Amino acid sequence: MSLSTKRILLGISGGIAAYKSADLVRRLKERGADVRVVMTTSAKEFITPLTLQALSGNPVGDSLLDPSAEAAMGHIELAKWAELIVVAPASANLIAKVAAGIADDLLTTLILASAAPLALAPAMNQQMYKAKATQDNLTRLSARGVALWGPNGGEQACGDVGPGRMQEPLELVAQAEALFGPKPLAGKTLVLTAGPTREPLDPVRYLSNHSSGKMGFAIAKAAAEMGAEVTLIAGPVNLATPVGVKRIDVSSALDMHQTALSYAPGTDLFIGCAAVADYRPVASAEHKIKKSSDTLTVEMVKNPDIISDVAALGQRPTLVVGFAAETQDVEQYARRKLERKGLDLIAANAVGNGLAFGTDDNQLTLITPTETQVLPTASKAELAKMLLENLAKQLSKKP
Ligand code: PMT
Repeated sequence: MSLSTKRILLGISGGIAAYKSADLVRRLKERGADVRVVMTTSAKEFITPLTLQALSGNPVGDSLLDPSAEAAMGHIELAKWAELIVVAPASANLIAKVAAGIADDLLTTLILASAAPLALAPAMNQQMYKAKATQDNLTRLSARGVALWGPNGGEQACGDVGPGRMQEPLELVAQAEALFGPKPLAGKTLVLTAGPTREPLDPVRYLSNHSSGKMGFAIAKAAAEMGAEVTLIAGPVNLATPVGVKRIDVSSALDMHQTALSYAPGTDLFIGCAAVADYRPVASAEHKIKKSSDTLTVEMVKNPDIISDVAALGQRPTLVVGFAAETQDVEQYARRKLERKGLDLIAANAVGNGLAFGTDDNQLTLITPTETQVLPTASKAELAKMLLENLAKQLSKKP
């Protein structure tokens, strides 16, 4: 009963994914949560209040101005009752209203009137999700500490393919469990690097790689949920900052090196998940390089090795963890890096087969000087948790 006695207010806004909310109520109840449902007017076009009342075992709220409902549990009382508000599905319209602080129905009023953590599970057409207005709203909400659970990508009810599918009920439940769950990294500090670096060639060009930042951001999110104080040093990526994470944006390997060395000393954990460029052009041309010859030779110089320098610090983090992305002899190369860079653990991933760079799934092998643990192929979110659970155990054994 992982959610035993937790008071969860489930908001349902209008969208085809509302049919999944019935299953979500069931799953939350199975885990011991006390669930109360509030629906918007358009949500009732997709699923009936009666279904949700039967599944939750509580009356369903749908009107701000209903005297009988107010007599039972007034909206301010309900806002105070909730320990967590989850809106699933959260439509583009609902998201826009919450971002603007509009309170024109029961659900948006409760959201504004409650001090409980708020999680939104966006669900909408992929183009609506990608629209600048929606993205701006999500960025504002995320910066305010609102948790964004999903959306997933894939085929949509309208036939489009892309991001905007509501997360499955069990995925949402897992995030609620994480929110209330044990905090094995409480009181621990984590600094991590994520994403690619850009090495400038001239004012308009750079050398980089295919890292999307997804693996590193998943670690940052999971670590914050496990109670760590997280500083995320991010190369140029197009990802929202996870709730509760301090983010510092950098561009080149030199920027990342300087930032990492100023934040890492004395921390509990340093994780180098970034795909740092090994070399940079000796000099970035002052003006745009012209197409004056058939070939172009660029002289490159080695970048400093960020993680090696962190591992060699006087105030070395308790654990220094690297990543290794390899296309062949993965474990052998990773083990060499572990030793050469003075790391406590290296997470090796094989590049290709739809894994590692830019993908949602990955496969990791955790290698320490004495042990090798092969983790299953899973989402980067799940792997992040498995990696951090391993590291939390190691930290708990340190004096
Ligand atoms: O961002 P995603 O699209 O989700 O992809 C994730 C990932 C594949 C980029 C990630 O899982 C990963 O494997 N990151 C390390 C990539 C890599 O190839 O690292 P490396 O073998 O070049 O370096 C080994 C370790 O040294 C890494 O921890 C790296 O951060 C670090 N390093 C490397 C070079 C350098 N100059 N400084 C460093 O700190």
